[in-house]
Amino acid sequence: MSTPRDRTAWLQGGDAVCIQPPTTVQRAWHLVLLGPPGVGKGTQAELLSNALGACPLSTGDVFRAAKGRAAAPGSAMALAQAQMNRGELVTDSTVIALIRERHQCLHCSGGFMLDGFPRTLAQAQALDRVLSAESLQLDAVISYELPNDQLIARLSGRRVCPQCKAVFHTVNRPPRVAGVCDQCGGALVQRPDDQPEAIAVRLATYAEATAPLVNYYREHGLLVSVVADGEPLDIVARTLDALAERVLPA
Ligand code: AP5
Repeated sequence: MSTPRDRTAWLQGGDAVCIQPPTTVQRAWHLVLLGPPGVGKGTQAELLSNALGACPLSTGDVFRAAKGRAAAPGSAMALAQAQMNRGELVTDSTVIALIRERHQCLHCSGGFMLDGFPRTLAQAQALDRVLSAESLQLDAVISYELPNDQLIARLSGRRVCPQCKAVFHTVNRPPRVAGVCDQCGGALVQRPDDQPEAIAVRLATYAEATAPLVNYYREHGLLVSVVADGEPLDIVARTLDALAERVLPA
């Protein structure tokens, strides 16, 4: 497992800057990773980042990173964290403001992969406006697909390291020592939204609010569908093949 990018500018927003410089790349990819909870977007984002150099930008990670810092009661961030723990979507206005505040990450010389954004039609349209204002274009939207029973198994067994953000699975990707992070030795935990009640809400919300984006991006000629079954590295290879087929080399 390689060390993930620090993504300080993305996680903290404002004037924060990344500690690691962007990887030098031949082509700066501008991608969206779409797919239901547990399909493996975060896992793929980390592996694809190694392969393509593009920085993985997860909106869920921004809300989780903010948990360590004080969120004033009643603030947009406190409300967002409560919504997230229940498995509900955070309101569009909060998420769109978050993206606007981090617009410099869209210009990262290594490229970017948006993970978990957009998640509603309003967010997709807002992204179109932000990209247009920044004179940027998406290269592709990668849509990962997996049946619900496998999604539930992946989410139920997920364990994460609150310190270094590494992701494990009790069966599919177990740590060397049960409950202990391979990377930093931190104690692994289960995300609050990986409890059964929250998983059910997330899957239903995905079907209602986010799945329609598959058609939206198909109509915009950007959709690349990838079956997310099998070993993570096989899925990376499938993704790279699909990207190479869709996008001619620069
Ligand atoms: P977010 O963090 O984006 O969660 P999500 O989309 O529900 O996705 P997950 O992180 O749960 O799963 P993943 O697809 O990344 O899977 P992973 O790689 O970890 O968002 C969380 C919440 O934040 C939302 O519910 C919402 O409240 C809020 N939010 C975020 N963005 C928002 C937005 N734009 N608008 C509104 N609200 C927003 O893999 C899962 C498990 O499977 C792991 O244990 C992994 O090890 C294992 N695994 C991965 N790949 C494989 C494989 N190939 N084979 C076997 N196991 C595998």
